Amino acid sequence: MKNILAFAGSNSSDSINKQLATYASSLVKDAKVTILDLNDFDLPIYSKDLEAKEGVPENAKKFHQFIKDADGLVISLAENNGAYSAVFKNLFDWMSRLEQKTFLGKPMLLMATSPGGRGGASVLAMAKDRFPRHDAKIVAEFSLPLFNDKFADGKITDSDFDNTLKEAVELFQKEL
Ligand SMILES: Cc1cc2nc3c(=O)[nH]c(=O)nc-3n(C[C@H](O)[C@H](O)[C@H](O)COP(=O)(O)O)c2cc1C
Repeated sequence: MKNILAFAGSNSSDSINKQLATYASSLVKDAKVTILDLNDFDLPIYSKDLEAKEGVPENAKKFHQFIKDADGLVISLAENNGAYSAVFKNLFDWMSRLEQKTFLGKPMLLMATSPGGRGGASVLAMAKDRFPRHDAKIVAEFSLPLFNDKFADGKITDSDFDNTLKEAVELFQKEL
């Protein structure tokens, strides 16, 4: 049984990206899925001075340990002004100070969704460019536009998008 870690790059209590990451990870077969919420990993804003004084905070270490323990990563990034949400960028910055190869070569299903028509295309492009420099092995990607029209009751309701996600999950599954 493979260990899958799923999380959203968001701290919204009703995060649409967490809903998508939860659904996508439920499609992985023979897997034990751990879903994390960034709200449970409170962190100070990264500062060089704070790092010099106190080191990397325990919550960044704890989160990174979950990555270490995982066989695969399912991530869905919220898009804020065309970029990562502040809460995700902060966690990423802290973890990169612990380990430059933050994602440790683990197979990754990389996703984004938004209420708008671009489905988080900008943050997805940013992560696609950047994550491999941190040893991410992005094996599949998926974007869901118009979340409120295409997702309900924990599932994608648009069959074309649902099939595209299932194909992405299959690619991910093969790499585990
Ligand atoms: C400050 C701010 C900036 C945003 N910028 C974008 C954006 O650039 N592109 C986009 O598609 N949605 C944008 N949104 C809308 C988010 O996609 C939407 O709030 C979404 O629910 C965030 O994902 P989450 O629910 O997983 O937190 C923005 C929202 C906020 C509050």
